[in-house]
Amino acid sequence: MRARFPNVLLPLPLLFLGLFLGLVLEACGRAPKGFVVGFSQIGAESAWRVAETESIREEAAKRGIELKLADAGQKLEAQVAALHAFLAQGVGAVILAPQRKDGFEPALRELAAARIPVVVVDRGLDCDPALYATLIASDFTDEGRRAAEWLLAHTQGEVRIAELEGTAGSDPAIERKRGFDERIAKEPRMRIVKSVSAEFQLPKGKEAMEAIWKAEGGGIDAVYAHNDDMALGAIQAIEEAGKKPGADVLVVSIDATRGAFDAILAGKLSCAVECSPLLGPAAFDAIERLRRGEPVEKRIVVQDRVFDATNAAAERPNRKY
Ligand code: AHR
Repeated sequence: MRARFPNVLLPLPLLFLGLFLGLVLEACGRAPKGFVVGFSQIGAESAWRVAETESIREEAAKRGIELKLADAGQKLEAQVAALHAFLAQGVGAVILAPQRKDGFEPALRELAAARIPVVVVDRGLDCDPALYATLIASDFTDEGRRAAEWLLAHTQGEVRIAELEGTAGSDPAIERKRGFDERIAKEPRMRIVKSVSAEFQLPKGKEAMEAIWKAEGGGIDAVYAHNDDMALGAIQAIEEAGKKPGADVLVVSIDATRGAFDAILAGKLSCAVECSPLLGPAAFDAIERLRRGEPVEKRIVVQDRVFDATNAAAERPNRKY
């Protein structure tokens, strides 16, 4: 059945008012008609990343901005190809969540030459900073340090640690390792016995933990996972090995997703350092400022907290991811 619309003409004053409001909104950078933003996303390897995509999608919709989302399925080449496609489509701005630190400079140069501003979210890049407008991300080095701090404060004597690393070459994998290593370097009782990359994925975290457990004959006191998904996989592996995560083996991780909160409340995860994926509002604020010709800070650091059994229950109902 066809929809029926009332056959009435708008009174003239109302029509002018509508036109005026439209112009005001356009001038404020809100709901710009025909304004298109390209978002090059890494993939959907973790609950965190899915939440980040949703945050950006939701914010674009809220502001009436058309979003072209390109999911690269964990492939750097696919991300670079997406940037080229955005260039060809003549989008108004690009949001880039880069998988690795390197490999983006040539494509970024082309976007800069076409005067298409790039807002980098979540992970940093190794490139000329003039090629992007701003980087909106957490301090990954500090996250690693804080995970180490927690372990130091809650253990005594020798601690043999298994480390589950994120995707090789990615900013969080490099910096979370650096921060943790720097902090435990001053503490001879803390020793990483094995570091394995599990690419931020739950099944790979489980597999890696099974292999480490076997290789070390179970001689592991703590797991440091670069994200919650890998920690949740490790928890499964520890349980299947007949041990109690959170008691026999302490597990600390980064992200603080709802899954991590539930694991903390079940006593299986010891600590989750927060890393917020809710970057949509800040990314579009930056884009709108750029459209208005206003300055944008080169580095916007997302403020994160640390959760464990002492504060997780109070925060759980507020978690948005
Ligand atoms: O870049 C942020 C990291 O990437 C998150 O910690 C992880 O869960 C994601 O896949």
